[in-house]
Formats: sequence, structure tokens, C-alpha cells
Amino acid sequence: MYQAPRGTVDILPEEQPYWRYIDEKLARICQLYGYERIDFPAFEDAGLFRRSVGEGTDVVDKEMYTFADRGGNLLALIPEGTASVCRAYIEHGLRNLPQPVKLYYVTSVFRYDRPQAGRYRQHHQFGYEAIGDGDPALDAEVIDMGWQFFQSLGLTRLSMQLNSIGCKACRPDYLAALKGYYSGHVDELCPDCKSRLGRNPLRLLDCKKPSCQAIADAAPKSTDYLCADCANHFSQLQRYLSLLGLPFTLNHRLVRGLDYYTRTVFEIQPELEGAQSTVGGGGRYDDLIEGLGGKSTPAIGLAAGMERIILNLKRHGVVVPSLPKPRVFLACLGAPARDETIKLASQLRRVGIEVIQSPGNKSLKSQLRQADAMGAHQTVIIGDREVETGTAILRDMTSAEQQTVPIIRLAEVLCQTIK
Ligand code: HAM
Repeated sequence: MYQAPRGTVDILPEEQPYWRYIDEKLARICQLYGYERIDFPAFEDAGLFRRSVGEGTDVVDKEMYTFADRGGNLLALIPEGTASVCRAYIEHGLRNLPQPVKLYYVTSVFRYDRPQAGRYRQHHQFGYEAIGDGDPALDAEVIDMGWQFFQSLGLTRLSMQLNSIGCKACRPDYLAALKGYYSGHVDELCPDCKSRLGRNPLRLLDCKKPSCQAIADAAPKSTDYLCADCANHFSQLQRYLSLLGLPFTLNHRLVRGLDYYTRTVFEIQPELEGAQSTVGGGGRYDDLIEGLGGKSTPAIGLAAGMERIILNLKRHGVVVPSLPKPRVFLACLGAPARDETIKLASQLRRVGIEVIQSPGNKSLKSQLRQADAMGAHQTVIIGDREVETGTAILRDMTSAEQQTVPIIRLAEVLCQTIK
């Protein structure tokens, strides 16, 4: 027996109301903030992610699905969306449009992660990117949009974690200070942190191992090493967020797992579960487009995991609207009636009435049971006698009252009764 590959899930009809609910909210928020949709391929040149997300990150080194196609091209299933948006921005000359260009996406994302609740090997992300402006007012708007999106979903028990990790001018000093600090604690570090210390010391700050947490808590803070421009940017951003009344927590250990970030980084975390089930995160990436071969272009964005959002909707007890189902069931008795119901179902659908008909030769009793199970309000019954007289029996499924209606008036009567 085949099963869905480990770390992937089927999204069955009973889960679909959550997806529809989120789709509607995200389409609305994107419209409110002026974002247009972009879709991109599910796989890209593997080099795109090595250069953007960065070699030495878990996402690229341990989690990326990389493969050679039959033409010998080295490709990767996308492990995130930002790099693809930047690739498209450069490839299609979007810098010629008024800036910032604001794009959003909903996409499958593939990471060879250790599967657990809210962590999958194929998950789905809603993300948005504002490309072409470095103003901290844009950071505030991007963060506000994320916050308002979660509020609109009914997710209120969240916290906004904020940090600045500086730019290429000031970060080297900070990294040196961090290495200096950690070199005094090497013996106390977990094996992962030990091996990262030389390559990517920032990542030691978000190690989840309890033994490393106290060491990370006391580590030097990036915000103490910001150059004047970065410090100004960060204080302006905090001022704007305060103006917006948006609650945020400064978190000097927030560094994010992708290498392209500069200055602002942020995460939206559930108050109780914290970083383990972060629902969304993002930040500025002012050097990324240039690093991918484009002109120097500042940018900022956010992505949220759809499965994590659903997990939190359930934890918050948010009730989502169910999806409408057909309310009319067409029951058919005998072969002549089948010809009639096939035509009738199609005619009713053409005038906008949602209809289910039962294939096969089931008894009336079993067809009525089926109509009941699917929650039909009305059942139209057609047998030999109805075919001969050009009529149909209309049964109200709640009261079990029945009336005979001429076929030519059926659509009109149904419209009135199911309204
Ligand atoms: P990320 O934090 O790696 O950021 O992923 C964004 C969100 O995707 C996470 O906050 C989490 O909700 C969800 N997520 C990540 N991995 C998994 C997984 N294995 N299973 C389920 N959900 C997961 C990015 O990908 C950046 N591109 C965000 C960004 C946009 N930065 C700037 N613009």
C-alpha cells in the first residue's frame, strides 16, 4: 500500500474550509496594502538558493531537495519564496516599474525537515515582498500588514519579536565580538553550535538546546554594534511601530535561519509555544538582489506557514465558515427517469442551482438516506409516472412534505424554496 511520503499530508475536504478562510483573508489584506500576485516555478536552479539563502545554512546544506534533471541541470525544489521573487524581479526588469514593487505569493515549499506537528517536508507559505525602497516606514508597513493579517484571522495571542542584525558595514565587528565571546564557552556548547561557530556564529544565538540558551542570553547584542545608519533605521522603525500601536518585543537572539537578511528581522510567534511554532517571519534583505546579479535594490518581506496558521487557528478555537454544499438532490427511479434526470441536472446547474444526482440503480430509500447525509434541503424525485406526466416530486428534507411540480416550473420553484 502506498502512503503519502513522510512529512507530506493530504488536505482532505474536511480541512478545506481552513484553507479557503485563509485564502480569502490573505487576498483581502494584499488588496488593502497594494500587493499583486506572483507565481513562480516549484523548482529553480539550485545555485539561486546557495547564493541567497546561503551555503552553511540548514535550509541549503541539510534540507534542500536537490536533483539533476535529465539534461544534467542541477535544480532544487524551492525551499522558500523570496529568492524566486528576486530572480523574477531581475529577470523581468521589474525595476522599471514604480518602486517599491509589491508582490505576494502562495506556494508549496520543500524542506527535508524532521517531521512533527506543524513541521513538514512539503508545506505551504503565504509570502509578500516589497522591493525597491529602503525607508524604515516600509519596514513598519510590512510588519503592520503581517500583524493585521493575523488579527483578521482571529489569531490574537501572538507576539511580534523584533531585532536588527546590521548591515555589511557593521556586522563584521559584531561577528568578531560574538566569536570572541563564544570562544570562551566552547566546551559548554552543543556539537551543532561548536561546528557553526567558525562558519556562522549568528546562528548560535537561536540554538534551541537548553544548555546553549543561557550562553546565548548573555551574548553580545547586535543592536550594540549597529553603525549610525542602521541604528537610525532601527530607532525610526520602532518609532513608527509605536505610532501604529503595534506591540513588539525586542529580542536580541532573533537572527533568522537564512543568510540574506540585513538590518530588520522579525518573527510572529504564538505567546505560549514561542519560537518552536513561529507562524511567520521575515526581514530586510538589502543586498540580495545585487548578490543575484541585479542592481543594488533594498527590499523587505515576510512569509507565513499556512499549516502553522491552521494549527494556531485550532489552538485559538477560531471557528471558520463551512463551505457551501449543493442543497438539491436528484433521485431517480428507473431507466426512463435516468434520461430525464441527466438532462434536468445539467439544466438546473446552468441556471445556477447546485445539484447532486445519484448514479446507479439505488432504491428510493437509499437515495433519500444519501440526500440526508449530504445535508440536502430539497430532493427532486423522478420515476416512470413523473416522466409520463412531465412532473417531478419535490420533497422538503426537513418536514418530509412533498409536492408535485411541473418540470418546466421546477427551477423557479427550487430557487424560491432554497433561498
Ligand atoms: P522562514 O522563517 O524560513 O522564512 O519560513 C516562513 C514560515 O514558514 C515560518 O515562519 C513557518 O511558519 C513556515 N515554515 C518553515 N518551515 C516549515 C516547515 N518545515 N513546515 C511547516 N511550516 C514551515 C522564509 O522562508 C523567508 N522567505 C521569509 C521572508 C520573506 N523573508 C523575507 N521575505
